[in-house]
Amino acid sequence: MPAADHAAAPRIVAIHASPRRAGNTSTLLDQAVAGARAAGAQVTEVVLRQLKISPCLEIYGCKKDGRCVIKDDFQGVCDLMLDSQGLMLASPIFFFALSAQAKLLMDRCQSLWVKKYWIDKQPFGGGVKTRQGLFISVGATKGPRLFEGALLSVKYFFDVLDMELAQSLLYRGLDFEGDVLAHPAYLDEARQAGANLAVKLAANLDTNPAATLL
Ligand SMILES: Cc1cc2nc3c(=O)[nH]c(=O)nc-3n(C[C@H](O)[C@H](O)[C@H](O)COP(=O)(O)O)c2cc1C
Repeated sequence: MPAADHAAAPRIVAIHASPRRAGNTSTLLDQAVAGARAAGAQVTEVVLRQLKISPCLEIYGCKKDGRCVIKDDFQGVCDLMLDSQGLMLASPIFFFALSAQAKLLMDRCQSLWVKKYWIDKQPFGGGVKTRQGLFISVGATKGPRLFEGALLSVKYFFDVLDMELAQSLLYRGLDFEGDVLAHPAYLDEARQAGANLAVKLAANLDTNPAATLL
């Protein structure tokens, strides 16, 4: 049955974490979003460069209830992530790591780490993850270790969100805005990945209707 026929469409948050709105990662994410929507998902896009998100201040105000106490645009993004079954994160590689925009968001999710491991005392690495996500990244160079640092960060970011990293789309040798347009196979792959994620999440929703953290 196509996902669009399900009573409840899975909710996905798609996070654009490049400073360039029309850059390579955002173009790929646009494709993934289109694929997910065509497969019946409800996708909310977040463009981090348009938001005001403070770095984590390490004051641990979140120790009270797992909620970050800094009042800025993180709060809305956090609620969206918690109330979704799926996440797509698209960030370029900057100095073998994620973009600063992605890192700001990620560090503020330390509040969720505090909730999960200090307040709720969940065991590390335990539990079945019914929520899933997709990571899209691009770098200009071609070294074999280009994505290692970013992947490690993303793995633990998804863990605090109780999400499984279902697929990573990693493309080397793309530098200038629009470079990815010369690779229709990459665009097709991203569209397909978005559709696959939507279908998988819809199937999970059938068996576990409450698959969000809210
Ligand atoms: C601050 C900065 C740091 C970068 N660091 C790396 C790097 O470590 N390795 C690499 O291969 N490319 C690096 N790049 C190139 C970008 O990853 C590349 O241009 C990518 O296509 C940008 O993606 P976007 O268009 O989605 O923003 C860097 C670019 C910038 C602006």
